[in-house]
Amino acid sequence: MRKPVIAGNWKLFKTKSEALELIEALAPQVKGAAGVEIIVAPVFTVLPSLHGAVSGTNIALAAQDVFWEEEGAFTGEVSPGMLLDAGASHVIIGHSERRQYFGETDATVNKKTKAALKGALVPIVCIGETLQAREAGDTFKVLETQLKEGLTEITAAQFAPVIVAYEPVWAIGTGKTASDEQAQEAHAFIRGVLAGLYGQETADKTRILYGGSVKPENVKGLMSCADIDGALVGGASLKADSFAGIVNFQQ
Ligand code: PGA
Repeated sequence: MRKPVIAGNWKLFKTKSEALELIEALAPQVKGAAGVEIIVAPVFTVLPSLHGAVSGTNIALAAQDVFWEEEGAFTGEVSPGMLLDAGASHVIIGHSERRQYFGETDATVNKKTKAALKGALVPIVCIGETLQAREAGDTFKVLETQLKEGLTEITAAQFAPVIVAYEPVWAIGTGKTASDEQAQEAHAFIRGVLAGLYGQETADKTRILYGGSVKPENVKGLMSCADIDGALVGGASLKADSFAGIVNFQQ
């Protein structure tokens, strides 16, 4: 019922020529993955060139961040309309690296999510607990707060297209994946919170992605969990073979 989403977060990697080379290698390897929604998120500057490169393929583009105003005196920011104009259809919001290094909070995540929805971009809203929170037994509390505050004043109808990504901070770029059971437990909890906010029907339709050291070797197990609907992939999305290996998890 929920179409799987495999999204690659390229972070601060890939110049224009490197990005084009990666897409050229990736596109033929994933063209048979008809049942999967495939997204890659390059740096802002590369979006317009990739827009041409992905046209006619089954790959969509995401930005890695967005600002909440459409225009104005906001040096260094990029608006939803500008991202659409550059070829993005999706945008990652509230990635833990933005929360950790750039002062992103649940309040800014909320402003950005509202602005993205208003601007017809599909938000991929990231949440996840730190190792400290997990060890203190606060995982569910953290996830619930991040969801409720990040989604404040967003109605069920507005929320419908949103994709949620559960990324335990301790599993990002560390090679440590959450076990299938740990991930499933968190995803089921997230779906329960969404059901409380928006009703069971909306919650059942929401794609919840797992992120944190996803690789071709562990994607199958994760994707076999009832509430895991896809993956947000960092390191393994930077090479065509490994990202294609994840996209083609059903083969
Ligand atoms: P990783 O990153 O796959 O390199 O752990 C995931 C992410 O940050 O989205």
